[in-house]
Amino acid sequence: MELLPRDLPRAIRWEEGKLYLLDQTRLPHDAIMEHQETVEQVWASIKALKVRGAPAIGIAAAYGLCVALQSHQHLQSAEYLEKAQQFAEYLDSSRPTAVNLGWAMRRMMVRALSLKGGPADEIHQALVTEAEKIHQEDIQLCLGMGRNGVDLIKPGMGVLTHCNAGSLATSELGTATAPMYMAHQNGVSFRVYADETRPLLQGARLTSWELKTAGLDVTLITDNMAAHLMKEGLIDMVITGTDRVAANGDVANKIGTLGVAILAKYFSIPFYVACPSSTIDLNCPTGDDIPIEERDGDEVTTLAGVRTAPDGVKTRNPAFDVTPHELVAGLITEKALITGDYETELKRLFGGN
Ligand code: MRU
Repeated sequence: MELLPRDLPRAIRWEEGKLYLLDQTRLPHDAIMEHQETVEQVWASIKALKVRGAPAIGIAAAYGLCVALQSHQHLQSAEYLEKAQQFAEYLDSSRPTAVNLGWAMRRMMVRALSLKGGPADEIHQALVTEAEKIHQEDIQLCLGMGRNGVDLIKPGMGVLTHCNAGSLATSELGTATAPMYMAHQNGVSFRVYADETRPLLQGARLTSWELKTAGLDVTLITDNMAAHLMKEGLIDMVITGTDRVAANGDVANKIGTLGVAILAKYFSIPFYVACPSSTIDLNCPTGDDIPIEERDGDEVTTLAGVRTAPDGVKTRNPAFDVTPHELVAGLITEKALITGDYETELKRLFGGN
């Protein structure tokens, strides 16, 4: 049995030098791959969450840099590198919280600069290869998290997740969902509860759709139902993804995650976070140093495009929150399941990256 159904659309496709992104804002109704013809289009697709989820936006931006530089291969090496730096900074400015974006841009620039002085078309080819590597490596990172998290899911368990840290947010198995897909493949019978995740409904539109399509037992709930289900004894574990893990183990993730973590603590339910090395930011000392994206208030005053609030009402729309490491039972990484002393363990395992 395959871990992911073949007909489940992938978030990103790079084919014959062309970048296609699945427009996730149209899911679950339409699964449309949109050809990205310019760097401005890639920037706008990331900003509008057509492609979203920390690993996926890093991969999309890496290919986006290749799209941007495609027509600049005739330049002198130094001019090409200058353009590359400008486009990398531009793409990095599309969303601030997920560190994968900056990580991918830095990695691409390191590769480009390693060929400084060489012909621009050769640097360009090396960048395409680097973007493809980032894309392929993410498949392995997901598999690693799956292996290190699968044994946490025991028969009969109820697992709550928030937002979408699934296949749509990565190259393949997802981060939070990787242990779920593997447990399912191993024949373990368990239930997943997906928070709908207001304001943009990634849980309802994406997570419940992809897990249902893959044949997992998934139940959709609204965000405010989690406490009640925990009290009913239906939730045995929480697994979420993350957009950035600080050096001390604090984790930023979709707005609402902190509330879930606090509830989990109250009900003595372990709260796990799945994170690939590309999401770990050892240069960020604590969660207080993580920039939190503030999005347009229209996302709060509307629901699926329909206005639900009075004209002129004040809004706040932070897209992420930070869960302190004290509330985290474990970080499921591709190298190991880390269950404590996060600062030391993160440094020991990922300090050389
Ligand atoms: O705003 P989004 O949809 O990009 O937010 C995504 C999340 O918060 C995910 O949980 C996180 O990026 C991890 S994805 C593997």
